[in-house]
Amino acid sequence: MGLIEYKSDCELTGTERSDLQKLLQECFHGYFIDRLYHKQVPQYRVLAKKNERIVGQVAVDQRVIRSRKHGVISLIELIDTCVDEKCRHKGIATKLLQELEHWANEKSVDAFVVFADDHRLYKKLGYDVVDVTCRFLAIEEHESVGVIEKKMGDCFMIKFTRKPRDMQGDHVDMLGYVF
Ligand SMILES: CC(C)(COP(=O)(O)OP(=O)(O)OC[C@H]1O[C@@H](n2cnc3c(N)ncnc32)[C@H](O)[C@@H]1OP(=O)(O)O)[C@@H](O)C(=O)NCCC(=O)NCCS
Repeated sequence: MGLIEYKSDCELTGTERSDLQKLLQECFHGYFIDRLYHKQVPQYRVLAKKNERIVGQVAVDQRVIRSRKHGVISLIELIDTCVDEKCRHKGIATKLLQELEHWANEKSVDAFVVFADDHRLYKKLGYDVVDVTCRFLAIEEHESVGVIEKKMGDCFMIKFTRKPRDMQGDHVDMLGYVF
């Protein structure tokens, strides 16, 4: 694989925007045709490129959350990890996520979080599934529709960067929206 780049959406070129739109639509059934996010524009993206074209991405938001058991936790949330079908199983997604961990190592980040139904990639990278109840801002098509509190089933995955913390059965205020 070639280059890994970090970009916010306002830094994307026209070609990068159209590469990303195509990639997201191909990787996620029913993805939007005219935007690159679900609820809100992410803070930035980590892009994998081959021959100067985007072949993989993970969008990223940094935030703090409040756990009932552990207090305030600073984290990076991963959104829409995806790789072009023709380039899969070559370690590109792993490289993207490891690169992000390396970058975050120097920052004050306590954990990485992803909401995922398929756990395989993240389990390999050391993420744990935890049974938590989340409180978050619900957004529907650019409208805030309330604050929801619900058990996340088995889709909340977390990896602590330093000291691991037991979050089983925890209640977490996401202090914002989730994907
Ligand atoms: C998941 C995905 C990003 C992996 O990309 P990749 O570059 O092939 O990943 P890597 O080569 O680093 O690792 C591959 C491993 O990821 C795991 N994996 C495969 N599909 C996966 C999926 N949909 N979700 C989570 N993990 C997956 C498997 O364990 C796979 O191992 P294998 O190659 O031995 O089969 C890619 O399959 C994809 O874009 N899928 C469609 C979008 C998607 O479902 N994204 C996950 C959103 S949470």
